Amino acid sequence: MERDDYLANVKIRMPEKRYIHTIGVMETAISLAKKYGEDEKSAETAAILHDIAKYADENWMREVVQTKGLDPRLLGWGSEILHGPVGAWIAQHEFNITNEDILNAIRFHTTGRAGMSKLEKIIYIADMIEPNRNFPGVENLRQIANENLELAMESCVSHSITFLVQTKQPIFPASVECFNDIIS
Ligand SMILES: [Fe+2]
Ligand SMILES: [Fe+2]
Repeated sequence: MERDDYLANVKIRMPEKRYIHTIGVMETAISLAKKYGEDEKSAETAAILHDIAKYADENWMREVVQTKGLDPRLLGWGSEILHGPVGAWIAQHEFNITNEDILNAIRFHTTGRAGMSKLEKIIYIADMIEPNRNFPGVENLRQIANENLELAMESCVSHSITFLVQTKQPIFPASVECFNDIIS
């Protein structure tokens, strides 16, 4: 499948707003890949498919977790977390993506993890800073991403975790592991 096939395929699975977000992530990920020496085509594919499961049925996603050997820790969590790992499963089984790095970039974009690859970081960051995002502090994150990928990753994860703490939301263990890994 090529870029336009992927785009057409994701477009029908999400509302217009999410599709526009997807295009924003794609363009941001390609430019980060260019800047930091990652494969642009991989960044493009991972970005286009990263939210493929965002609007999948939550019960179906739990079923995938249970029956397809996904991380059992996911079972207590909602679609905000589940759509990453389940999206990677869809990318692999419906779109025949075999590149493990692309699959991991999709898989861990909702949580992060310890030991992320460059491509995984690019997708995680691009998802947060793409041009349609407008939360307080995003401009600062964009500036850091323009200068230093590692620092941008640290800032984005810190921002996510801080937000979860401030709004009294639980933090998935892999996100804590991601934070600990980055600051160590
Ligand atoms: Fe997502
Ligand atoms: Fe996203």
